[in-house]
Amino acid sequence: MARNRRICIIGISGKLGQYMAEHALARGWEVRGVCRPESVGKLARFGDRITVFPGRTDDAAVIARALQGCDGVLTVLVPWGVDDYASGTARAVLEHAEPKARLVFSCGWHVSRDGKDRYSLKLRAFVAVFGAIARALRFADISDQLRATCMIFDSDRDWTVVRGSDLEEGESQGLPVWSRHVGDPILASNRTRRIDFALFMVEALENDALIREAPAINGRLTPSAIAHARAA
Ligand SMILES: NC(=O)c1ccc[n+]([C@@H]2O[C@H](COP(=O)([O-])OP(=O)(O)OC[C@H]3O[C@@H](n4cnc5c(N)ncnc54)[C@H](OP(=O)(O)O)[C@@H]3O)[C@@H](O)[C@H]2O)c1
Repeated sequence: MARNRRICIIGISGKLGQYMAEHALARGWEVRGVCRPESVGKLARFGDRITVFPGRTDDAAVIARALQGCDGVLTVLVPWGVDDYASGTARAVLEHAEPKARLVFSCGWHVSRDGKDRYSLKLRAFVAVFGAIARALRFADISDQLRATCMIFDSDRDWTVVRGSDLEEGESQGLPVWSRHVGDPILASNRTRRIDFALFMVEALENDALIREAPAINGRLTPSAIAHARAA
């Protein structure tokens, strides 16, 4: 009998990770996850519906075990800490995923694949100010997320880097819209429900059109997405 299709969620204990687990289970995926040992308790509600591999997400040995036999990997890249956590996590996933696995990574709009994104003054100021303060206080390193995504863009794996807009909580509005460049009118509202960010990540696993793309996403019921749909 064929086994269930299996995925692993790297950073499963966070908000995005837990939403992705819910969507993936609903779609019939067998779900594994990696999270820091101190965060395993956050996943209690999933019980034995998921298999958890406790460990830092940049621990290559843990990642290698967790990714065995996985058809897809959903990775939450976060800038927290100043010890290259995001780039270490991306490296471990790229090196240890099965050869044909679909690899989907999350990050924010501030990551640019080709330098053609057009950012608002507000976003540029936020990245500059938050980046400098976070680095000085040693609680986050935005440049580490940039190094992680550069490594992914240079890889010949079947990757997708999903770039999230500003996020909010709330009920699902359906699959977000996307575009290749921040600054495109469809993205102007800059607002996505976190549950729908997770939906986009899970759906990307089975969407070959997104292989080696870095879609910037935005909620499908935002004013700019609706205006774009009307115009089309
Ligand atoms: N927040 C936003 O407004 C926003 C906007 C655009 C894009 N994004 C992107 O969306 C994704 C999810 O972001 P989120 O803000 O919604 O966060 P989230 O899903 O709650 O996830 C936070 C993750 O960071 C981990 N974490 C927290 N503190 C850490 C530390 N000191 N060292 C190592 N790991 C730590 C958490 O692990 P534990 O469970 O172990 O704590 C969890 O896996 C990220 O890729 C982010 O770049 C976020």
